Amino acid sequence: MNPLVVGNWKMNLDLTEAYVLSGRIATGVGSVGGTDVVLCPPNSFIFAINEYLKAKPTNLYLGCQNTMYEDEGAYTGETSLKMLKPIVKFAIIGHSERRRIFSEDDALINKKLKYILDNLVTPILCVGEKDRYQLEEYYEHEVKKMSAEGGMLRQIELAVKGIDKQKLRGLVIAYEPIWAIGTNNAATGAYAAAICYIIRNFLVEKFGSEIADEIRILYGGSVSSGQTREFMLQPSIDGLLVGGASLKAKEFIEIVKISAEVKSGRKF
Ligand code: PGA
Repeated sequence: MNPLVVGNWKMNLDLTEAYVLSGRIATGVGSVGGTDVVLCPPNSFIFAINEYLKAKPTNLYLGCQNTMYEDEGAYTGETSLKMLKPIVKFAIIGHSERRRIFSEDDALINKKLKYILDNLVTPILCVGEKDRYQLEEYYEHEVKKMSAEGGMLRQIELAVKGIDKQKLRGLVIAYEPIWAIGTNNAATGAYAAAICYIIRNFLVEKFGSEIADEIRILYGGSVSSGQTREFMLQPSIDGLLVGGASLKAKEFIEIVKISAEVKSGRKF
């Protein structure tokens, strides 16, 4: 499967800035082959950006940063996929900021995951730990902790609860350690690779390798172009979820180019 680079703009920019950024990125990534790129602007800009980009490159998709789990109803302030679906192909859920600031719990994320899959949109399920796992000293113990209450594997387990595994083909899991998000203190390639490998093994055990092979695992948390090679050289990492650096066109395009080069061996 193609590597995947996702830009999560969070709640940033005004409309003019969003046009400029999306336009520059569309031009910059259009010639980068074999890599899927997703822009996740604030929901309120999605339709305008889609119009603005009209002839988007085929490897560039739009995604939303969140969705309600029903099409319509008395949910003040929410947006559903019924509204966004004509345009968005991906939907982020379970981001640590939603879990922390908006108290989204695993049960809610499970509802959203079901809803997104029913709408044939690709979910980008975010999971991650608050405090760095001490894999170097306590490997077995820390892996056990991942499956216990509040652990990173437990978050995956609860998110997919009750979902037919056949529906999970194409799912994207973004491993985002909370201690690395927005801190300029990304995990090392080795650390991120170890955790993504643990996630991969967990998926193989739970769903079988045929389905697990169709699930992409991304790393996210203070990703920059400087560290992109280090992450993408890891066989267990299929792509990146980029926050702050996705707001800078040149930097984001560089991240996409390096990702494509490392995974395909071609120069862009
Ligand atoms: P960051 O954000 O790259 O700014 O750390 C990543 C994210 O929160 O998705």
